[in-house]
Amino acid sequence: MCAVGLKKSYDGRLVLDVERLGVRRGEVLAVLGPSGAGKTTLLRLLATLEEPSAGEVRFGDLVWAGRLSPADLLHWRRRLSFVPQNPVLFTGTVRFNVEMALALRGRDGPAASDEVEALLDRVGLLPLAGARAGSLSTGEAQRVCLARALVTRPDVLLFDEPTASLDPANVAIIEETLREAVRGWRPAVVIVTHNLFQARRVADRAALLVAGKLVEVGETDRLLDRPSDPRTAAFVRGEMVY
Ligand SMILES: Nc1ncnc2c1ncn2[C@@H]1O[C@H](COP(=O)(O)OP(=O)(O)OP(=O)(O)O)[C@@H](O)[C@H]1O
Ligand SMILES: [Mg+2]
Repeated sequence: MCAVGLKKSYDGRLVLDVERLGVRRGEVLAVLGPSGAGKTTLLRLLATLEEPSAGEVRFGDLVWAGRLSPADLLHWRRRLSFVPQNPVLFTGTVRFNVEMALALRGRDGPAASDEVEALLDRVGLLPLAGARAGSLSTGEAQRVCLARALVTRPDVLLFDEPTASLDPANVAIIEETLREAVRGWRPAVVIVTHNLFQARRVADRAALLVAGKLVEVGETDRLLDRPSDPRTAAFVRGEMVY
């Protein structure tokens, strides 16, 4: 998946202006940047939840420039999972939430329920499979969201701060499950995170976004240890105003 000349304005204010940013299959790209930098806007554009003001997003043979046929849009959205900053679960049980992701893509039946069980087990939620989603703690709900995003084995996975405000045990489960997924069917992954340690642990490359523009993109350790842009250095030192 690749963003090319991608711009987004709200009420005449340019909040995102990315010349080129791509992520390959089997690769994890961390998107870093201060609050308001445009990170969520970028993910929403990649997910076709926003229309570009200019430029486009390329995904396989398809191009998102604000208009696609319903069939192509459905194809795009079915091959992608987006876990937003504040995800919403369906009313119903934990198991139902994960099963629905498959059912919405016309994939249910016995094989599907085996996959659902295996994934719930992987994220430590099997004991809570019959619990109502509304009764879960934040960490449990985040793990349901991860299971729901992974069960369809999408080509592209987009995560907006998937472990914000979680304890280390939950963070570890989410990061390990994500890494296994990447090694498994090799999706392209974009993860927005404020946690530089997390970026190092999970991401092959990192991109720093400031005021809607890409400051620097590169191999994660290199970008964090030997930034080539003074703004990246300031960000890594925690000196950038949030
Ligand atoms: N629907 C909208 N209408 C108007 N302005 C918007 C809209 N969505 C985002 N913005 C503005 O675009 C800018 C980028 O917002 P965005 O949510 O992408 O930032 P972010 O990098 O995800 O920040 P955070 O780290 O706080 O989540 C902000 O100034 C925000 O106010
Ligand atoms: Mg955001």
